[in-house]
Amino acid sequence: MTASSRQRELLTAEQLSALPSDHPLHTTAVADSPMIAALTGRTGAHAPVWFMRQAGRSLPEYKKVREGVPMLDACLNPALAAEITLQPVRRHGVDAAIFFSDIVIPMKLAGVDVDIVPGRGPVLGTPVRTLEDIQALPELTDEALDPIREAVALTVKELGDTPLIGFAGAPFTVAAYMVEGGPSRDHLRPRTMMHADPEAWDALGQWAARTSAQFLAAQIEAGASAVQLFDSWAGSLSEADYRRFVQPHSATTLAHVAHYGVPRIHFGTGTAELLPAMLDAGADVIGVDYRLPLHTANERIGSGVPLQGNIDPALLAAGWDALKEHTDSVLESGKTAPSHIVNLGHGVPPTTDPTVLTRLVEYIHEVTAVEVR
Ligand code: CP3
Repeated sequence: MTASSRQRELLTAEQLSALPSDHPLHTTAVADSPMIAALTGRTGAHAPVWFMRQAGRSLPEYKKVREGVPMLDACLNPALAAEITLQPVRRHGVDAAIFFSDIVIPMKLAGVDVDIVPGRGPVLGTPVRTLEDIQALPELTDEALDPIREAVALTVKELGDTPLIGFAGAPFTVAAYMVEGGPSRDHLRPRTMMHADPEAWDALGQWAARTSAQFLAAQIEAGASAVQLFDSWAGSLSEADYRRFVQPHSATTLAHVAHYGVPRIHFGTGTAELLPAMLDAGADVIGVDYRLPLHTANERIGSGVPLQGNIDPALLAAGWDALKEHTDSVLESGKTAPSHIVNLGHGVPPTTDPTVLTRLVEYIHEVTAVEVR
């Protein structure tokens, strides 16, 4: 597909008709917002900026509302999830909200025994390691997603002209937690399983792909104007293994929501060698981590694709001068792409001074503002 045909396919009248009539993308304020403009390869009033993990422990107001509330309970309480989603938009003036939830929520709603352990991450009661384990997995029902739809609807009502980005974990990253039973550094067990028992791996990939697809569709139908597929751990794979064992499942998830026409961002870390393969999975926008300059990412992808990224989160604590210089180089590098959505190269560290993020948003808006003549 050429770049221009890719862009034309987004947000056509026909595709918009797949969205409910009260969806925010039917309003020009959202459809032509700087965020949606850049995600569809157009230029808005300024470069849009949002931060992965903008909601969360860097914000005192987040810590306050989370007091005594376990992570997954917070995600499944629609009013609380909406409030947490809105907090960074109010405080920083970012150009999009990212829905407050977690990549393990769809498996939790399907009935899998999973919890998020503070300071550690997702932990399963029983890891999923054999074909029998996988065949015994419960299916996610559409009704189980009601709290998600409710939270998204409450959020978009408050957001007004600011778009909401929905998300899901990509099948490999989700499956990696399920096979390991918890966080791991090298993801050895899932990487072994692909080769030792390809049939079991494929069954798990399909389960994770359809579960994430349902999660994305629920968010889009309830009002999300873009989505991001997080394949955070894809960088542990060779390109050959990615293409053979992972890309088909990510493609299933992305294809499931293609007919809505909302821009689909595909992001992972350590993916310098995988970017073309991640694009081939069916993404509209590629998220780049902080290890690869955007102009190099643009060359590797073959141009023509909006890029998102990639301020190094470490620079947030390095002092304003260092952060400003680094941001300038990210903005310069981003000019090689058809459009640039400014973000970090991974999530906001919990220790970040939130006033630095607010100042960074102001700075990016100021220096990228298009002069109105
Ligand atoms: O602003 C946002 O990005 C909010 C939504 C969000 C969360 N998790 C909230 C969260 C999103 C998009 C995620 C996705 C997610 N969850 C990913 C992909 C993104 C990435 O970071 O690579 C992954 C790998 C997970 C799994 C997960 N959930 C981890 C590794 C952790 C950290 C555990 C810890 O305590 O350090 C979580 C918990 C989690 N998810 C928190 C938040 C705000 C922290 C929990 C808390 O505040 O107590």
